[in-house]
Amino acid sequence: MLDLFADEKPWQEPLAEGAVILRRFARADADELIKQIGKVALLSPFRQMVTPGGYTMSVAMTNCGERGWTSRQHGYLYSPDDPLTGQRWPAMPQAFRNLSDAASAAAGYHDFCPDACLINRYVAGAKLSLHQDKDEPDLQQPIVSVSLGLPAVFQFGGLKRNDPLVRIMLEHGDVVVWGGASRLFYHGILPLKPGHHPATGEARYNLTFRSTGKGE
Ligand code: SIN
Ligand code: FE2
Repeated sequence: MLDLFADEKPWQEPLAEGAVILRRFARADADELIKQIGKVALLSPFRQMVTPGGYTMSVAMTNCGERGWTSRQHGYLYSPDDPLTGQRWPAMPQAFRNLSDAASAAAGYHDFCPDACLINRYVAGAKLSLHQDKDEPDLQQPIVSVSLGLPAVFQFGGLKRNDPLVRIMLEHGDVVVWGGASRLFYHGILPLKPGHHPATGEARYNLTFRSTGKGE
């Protein structure tokens, strides 16, 4: 695909203590990442999970890596198996791992070792309500989040649900890394605006890399 912005150099924007936006960081690898998303989804298809409260999420999800984030009747958990297929989640593609390693290092997190990657797919109207990523036992490890395709408005707040929120437009290839003091900050995605992106069509994809091990 011809990408008129392919030469645009990545740059960093501080977001909060421990959090940074790496603008366009994943753009050069985006086509490969999107191809690998397709391969993962052949084995573990995207599905709309039902929350413990009985609400069907508007975002469709799948996972790759050693464990995958899933919702069950009694809560959320990281499971080694995909409940839809009964098989292990697909392996994490090398391109995913390389990108996550480079992004975490660029953000100053040199020991990040993700074993799980949640893949979100948003179509027009899909959103992710304000939440904390708190199902991971080792909160020393950051979160690396990669945006692909259509732009979306990311909200990033503080430790309390009602802390003030900043709104940031995340575009194709943008990466957000948060850890340290902001590791448990509330965040979410506003309803996706309809549109068309040359790399992903009517969708936005987001990869979030997590470490679900116990740590030292
Ligand atoms: C997430 O909070 O897990 C995903 C955020 C995003 O889609 O950018
Ligand atoms: Fe999250």
